[in-house]
Amino acid sequence: MGVDCDGNFLFIVRQLFIRPTLMTTASAPGKIILFGEHAVVYGRPALAVPVTQVHVEVNVSDSASPGIWIDASDVDLHAELNTLPSDHPIASVIHNFLFLSRVSTFPNLEIKITSTIPVASGLGSGAAVTVALTRALASHLDRSMTDAEVNAFAYEIEKLHHGTPSGIDNTVVTYAKPVYFVKGEPIEVFKVGKPFTILIADTGIAAPTKESVGDVRRLWREDKSRWETIFDKIGEISFTARRAIDAGKPEFLGGLMNENHALLQTLTVSSPELDRLVESARGAGALGAKLSGGGRGGNIIALVDSETAAPVSLALRETGARNTITTQVS
Ligand code: MEV
Repeated sequence: MGVDCDGNFLFIVRQLFIRPTLMTTASAPGKIILFGEHAVVYGRPALAVPVTQVHVEVNVSDSASPGIWIDASDVDLHAELNTLPSDHPIASVIHNFLFLSRVSTFPNLEIKITSTIPVASGLGSGAAVTVALTRALASHLDRSMTDAEVNAFAYEIEKLHHGTPSGIDNTVVTYAKPVYFVKGEPIEVFKVGKPFTILIADTGIAAPTKESVGDVRRLWREDKSRWETIFDKIGEISFTARRAIDAGKPEFLGGLMNENHALLQTLTVSSPELDRLVESARGAGALGAKLSGGGRGGNIIALVDSETAAPVSLALRETGARNTITTQVS
């Protein structure tokens, strides 16, 4: 009884003296790369689309306790900002945001981050956290930011954590549109002449993009002309794929996916688990399949239609896929 009375008393005091907090929410989708990963880091075109079935949500509200309190249960993070190393991926977004927005007095905030995007799986979880967190902070602190500003900021954050990113992940996640991307050039949203279906299957193996991108860079430094030729071939595949998508002929994408996967194997970024899933999808009737994203783990994508979607999904699960997602590109 005494405890109840104390609890009520504290609750009433809190209501009287602490102003009700306004909560600001922002979210960002995942993404998949259809064609052109790795080569895109070297200036070749790549195609990527948002995946709205998975997303990051960020809620920001005023905190009753001093400090900036971060709660990201999916990665088991419950901490005050200043107890985190400044290069922590979430802390660095907040520090850089406050610095660039010239916030002189640190606000007291509660930041809750939830995500359905698996980490280090090629689905753009890092970029999605950055974009959603930036938008939620901007909105809560009354700073207006255009998409271009959010994208430029997210690219700077990607550079801090991923070495030499092309910028494709932050771009697709920020604009949430199908993008034909060439590093350093204005974004081009591509037209889809006829919708098509992609099945995404997760190896369940976390593989940081930074590592595969770093390994490819080492290979490239050792023999630039060999790897530039591979990048050229991948770039041509992306270019051809865009034309097929635009012309409403997605059936051509299957063969292009298979060719792109073979080139990614040559680049050493596939893995036995990815290859097994790719083979399994093709064997079950997919028109084509390839790894998607940085590789070594993470996801594969397969081109399916209304008849093959179910058997391909089943075959992928039987081959060990942790999860499958079906997404329509339209
Ligand atoms: C990662 O989603 C795509 C890569 O091409 C890296 C990049 O473009 O920054 C592997």
